[in-house]
Amino acid sequence: MATKRIGILTSGGDCPGLNAVIRAVVRSAEKLDWEVVGILDGFEGLLPPGDHMILDRHNTSGVMHLGGTILGTTNRGHFMARAQPGSGIASDVISKARQTLTDLGIEGLIVVGGDGSLTIALQLQEAGIPVIGVPKTIDNDLEATAMTFGFDSAVSCVADALDRLHTTATSHKRVMVLEVMGRHTGWIALYGGLAGGADVILIPEIPFRLDNVAAEVMRRDRSGAKSTMIVVAEGAHVVDSRPFRQSGSGGEQRLGGIGDYVCHEIAKRTGKESRSCVLGHLQRGGAPTAMDRILGTRFGVKAVQLIAEGKFGTMVSFHNAQIEDVPISHAVHRLRTVPPDCQLIQSARDVEIHFGE
Ligand code: F6P
Repeated sequence: MATKRIGILTSGGDCPGLNAVIRAVVRSAEKLDWEVVGILDGFEGLLPPGDHMILDRHNTSGVMHLGGTILGTTNRGHFMARAQPGSGIASDVISKARQTLTDLGIEGLIVVGGDGSLTIALQLQEAGIPVIGVPKTIDNDLEATAMTFGFDSAVSCVADALDRLHTTATSHKRVMVLEVMGRHTGWIALYGGLAGGADVILIPEIPFRLDNVAAEVMRRDRSGAKSTMIVVAEGAHVVDSRPFRQSGSGGEQRLGGIGDYVCHEIAKRTGKESRSCVLGHLQRGGAPTAMDRILGTRFGVKAVQLIAEGKFGTMVSFHNAQIEDVPISHAVHRLRTVPPDCQLIQSARDVEIHFGE
């Protein structure tokens, strides 16, 4: 008979490394003689007829290398619409969630999610439901943690795509534009572009001019370069313009389309044959890298420790190579953007990467 029951759910967009967190939570909890209940399909699983499963070391064995989440997730539903600043989750929704947790005997809930999901977690905590946050996003854009798992896997995917695109671009002497994710920050584009040998990287933090990008393509052409590889973050935009948005209903506005636009405009300005590629959800799928498995595992272990210490309302965080905890309230609605004058940008410039400004 377990001495305590805790719950875990994964919420928002999925990301490589989620299963490593779940596995680590189960193993550390079992060491303490606790039982873990997995809430299915994000916060929705807390509402009738919500679903759950008892997790143990057997049904969480062999999941570490799997992408996605064995618990399922959603970035829609009754809670998500209320995740914006200034709006609150309806009290009847909170009451139903509380009832489910009471019925299941759950004494602490681990919420693995990004900014929106952690905002929901904070509201539950403020309503008296004991919650621990675990940050997750491939975008690596949360201010309260220096790194989130999933980011390294996304960056590896970008680097791999650039390796592949480079050979075909060079054979045909083309300009190749690769659009990558990252929402309103350029971390994936910057890291992925650096790792994959991009020539131009366009990020939201450094608005660009098409004429400058075209001039760089022509400069490279004159110097004998056989191709130009351009990485563009989905949230990047021309000076004095807004990011390209896709139509969508409900939830967070989707970004995208800038890659095709840049490709078309560069071809027009340079007369060079150009192609674009949108990497999309390939960046979120597939096996997590070793780094993400390790970070996910460390986050999971720490989350259980925080429950043991009764430090509810906190979130695990990676800081100075250690896993620490910070109040969830310090973590939400604080976007960590790429400082345009940071050392990483300077290093990129020093290896002749152009930012189009
Ligand atoms: O926040 C993670 C992320 O993958 C962003 O980089 C991207 O803009 C968005 O989610 C895509 O969301 P969806 O899976 O809803 O299309």
